[in-house]
Amino acid sequence: MKVKLKVNGRLQQVVADKSLTLLDLLRDEFKLTGAKQSCDKAGQCGACTVIVNGKAVRSCLLKVAKLDGAEVITVEGLGTPDNPHLIQEAMVLAGAVQCGFCTPGIIMSAKALLDVNPDPGTEEIKKALRHNLCRCTGYTKIIDAVKLAGRFIRNEISPEDIRPDPDGPKYGVSHPRPSGLAKACGTAQFTADIIVPGALELATVRSPHPHALIKKIDFAAAEQMPGVIGVMTAKDIKGTNRLKYTVADRPVLCEDKVRYIGDPVAVIAAVTRQQAVEAAKAVQVEYEPLPVLGSPEEAMAEGAIQLHDDRPNLCFIQPQIKGDAQKALAESPTVIETHLTTQINHQAPLEPEACVSYLEGEGEDAQLVVIGRSIVIHKHLSMLQDALGWENMRYEEAYTGGQFGLKLEISSEGIAAGAALHFKRPVRYIPGLAESMLMTPKRHPFDMKVKLGADSEGRITAYDINIIVDNGAYHSNGDVIINRATQMLSGAYNIPNVHAVSKLVYTNNPWGSAARGAGPPQANFALECAVNMLADKLGKDPLEMRILNSLQPGQSKSTGSVVEQWPFPELCEAMRPHYKRSLLETREYKSGVIRRGVGLGAGAFGIGGPGDQAIVAIELDPDDGVTIYAAVADPGEGNDSMLTQLAADGLGLPLDKIHLMTKDSDQTTATGPAAGSRMTYMVGGALVNAAQQLKQAMKDAGATTYRELKEAGRPARYTGTRTTLEAGPLDPETGQGPSFESVVHALQMAEVEVNTETGEVKVLKMTTAVDSGPVINPLNFEGQLEGGADMGAGFALREQYIAGQTKDWVTFKFPSIKTAFEMESIIRETPRLRGTGKGSTGVGEMTMVPTAPAIISAIKDAIGVWICNLPATPDKIKAALQQRG
Ligand code: FES
Ligand code: FES
Repeated sequence: MKVKLKVNGRLQQVVADKSLTLLDLLRDEFKLTGAKQSCDKAGQCGACTVIVNGKAVRSCLLKVAKLDGAEVITVEGLGTPDNPHLIQEAMVLAGAVQCGFCTPGIIMSAKALLDVNPDPGTEEIKKALRHNLCRCTGYTKIIDAVKLAGRFIRNEISPEDIRPDPDGPKYGVSHPRPSGLAKACGTAQFTADIIVPGALELATVRSPHPHALIKKIDFAAAEQMPGVIGVMTAKDIKGTNRLKYTVADRPVLCEDKVRYIGDPVAVIAAVTRQQAVEAAKAVQVEYEPLPVLGSPEEAMAEGAIQLHDDRPNLCFIQPQIKGDAQKALAESPTVIETHLTTQINHQAPLEPEACVSYLEGEGEDAQLVVIGRSIVIHKHLSMLQDALGWENMRYEEAYTGGQFGLKLEISSEGIAAGAALHFKRPVRYIPGLAESMLMTPKRHPFDMKVKLGADSEGRITAYDINIIVDNGAYHSNGDVIINRATQMLSGAYNIPNVHAVSKLVYTNNPWGSAARGAGPPQANFALECAVNMLADKLGKDPLEMRILNSLQPGQSKSTGSVVEQWPFPELCEAMRPHYKRSLLETREYKSGVIRRGVGLGAGAFGIGGPGDQAIVAIELDPDDGVTIYAAVADPGEGNDSMLTQLAADGLGLPLDKIHLMTKDSDQTTATGPAAGSRMTYMVGGALVNAAQQLKQAMKDAGATTYRELKEAGRPARYTGTRTTLEAGPLDPETGQGPSFESVVHALQMAEVEVNTETGEVKVLKMTTAVDSGPVINPLNFEGQLEGGADMGAGFALREQYIAGQTKDWVTFKFPSIKTAFEMESIIRETPRLRGTGKGSTGVGEMTMVPTAPAIISAIKDAIGVWICNLPATPDKIKAALQQRG
């Protein structure tokens, strides 16, 4: 039917069939891509929020046919980066924009609220934003931003009053992140926003079986469907068809066997995405089910079927031996013994998977362009070159809606790039949320049996831990995950005797890879719970227990490496008044249905692993600014701020004279993944080195400008490096060896309320004490702490990925503004030896590490039971209470 509507003040007339949604009209027809899609148009994410007739609505739920005469405002209708709306400014200035994928939707919900209530309170804001999800921020800064926008709108202050002086200090100042306004105004292009005229749309046929042989694939019906252009199977892939991160076991498309629910089998290319999806459903695949390895125990059982022909199911073992743990435990007056598990979890970035790919040029010389969300574009490029048998490729990173470790691996790129080569046409592969969940790697589940002993004064004597890691169907970087857990096994403490064995086992479960923290959050959950249990058994205060057992400079970690700095006891002291306050407050709630408790968790997170290297080039430009060339992904943590502020600080330049060339593999140096909280320490370090070289060259030439430097015959471009001092793996027998060069410290305090009837746990407040060296951008820094704490709380209480059942944000139990809690940060800034600039390291993963044990300990404090198997769902809490009687 014919519909007239006004969009951003412009009258539009469209002929809409009755299924067309407003979201599709805006994005596909009007190219207004500010409104995003995260969920499968199910009203779950709010990323698609726009204003219709004055009200904030989820545009995926509205049919255009019912909108005759409507007035629609999208984020593009508010402002532009050059002339932003006050709400857009407030979001950036309050530090509420990280990846920015949720931001346009949140801004539209905020606008609808502020239009009718320019001075809303926290609860009113929470109500107005109840449909908007955000994975990055923990919502605190979003609430702050709406309040700030209210103050702007009420003319109490203006953005100029609070915007830091761009000519003032660059270090330790919350300069707005360079990408902030583009994200807030909807002009930042995420992969699905990229339009390539004539591109085919792809859909993939995926296995419904966890383990089966592929007997036959029948495309006859699918090929007859409207819009279908062609099909692709493993036979059409010209390279190795293996996406090798460390082990060549994962196919782009399965050849004869599927190994987990979601393994890709075939691809359909069609004119529209809907046509491709419908045709994929019509593909008939004949499977012969094989025995399913549902757990590591089943996979290690005698006679178990081997998942990969060339590797045993038990595919990696890393022991760690320091001192004599068995003897020390036998001699310890107090020992606790426990068994803890963590779940398979989804990293849950708000942006689903997406990739666009096309050939540039003709014939064998054509360059294959791959656009996606990689955080390690050079590595992924080489993986794709081998897998697809095409050498001339370029990877371009689009804006990325969060990733949290998931994009250390290739997901949609293998299929999209393979299809671009096969069909010799541009392709877009924009899978929905359910399919994105199937194709991406997950956080490895850990099964941990633990013994921890102490002497009569409470000094830890020995730690024994057996870890079994479910690798899932493919290896990815499972050995790296175990290595990282082993590297950080003794956490914040001096533990003279350690015995650990970690085993990595293939199963038919979803395959694991990096997830914020990548190994340490799981292993540290065991250690910190054990420390709290030991303190409990000894009748000792958990804070004093941590101070007593803190590692000291000159003592060694479980790897045997001796530490030079360890500012952890000072963090404990900084937490002391908060902890005392909470102990007093929670004392009032130790009986009745609603109980309160407080718990602590610590973490010591390694930065700068052995053998790590970063390379960054910097070039003086004709305008006397500089361009930084390095493949530094920024999926939301603020690496653009880090690079810009460090370079401006080091070179004494205004911020707007720093240009970034970070997203294109042809233009950049490879500098390692945006993972492991390594970017500030490693890449920032290489940048500082490059800037020093440029500065020295200008000094030597007596030059203050580009022209003078060139006239002096000096190059304008300098390449800086940062290499960690030690290299080499841990000893495969003893787990002793070189370790992370620097350490970030945190102590987390959780305050919770438990309903003893329903088993519901509400986090009331999280107080985080962190020391990662001098802070470059305080708002970005706090944003990482708050987002990590929110994610840690989800990991502790709700989130879990169950293959075949977790299909959307509701079944995943995505944290919402309703589950958000108060957060307070205590920041200490001990300069680190070899830290970047003034001694900075990184903080992106830190609060993910100690949050879950702090919450579990707070639950114990509230109701007297330990929940040892994450997540601590209401059912588990009720069962534990019942069992205790
Ligand atoms: S796409 Fe509309 S709510 Fe998710
Ligand atoms: S900033 Fe909200 S999802 Fe990333």
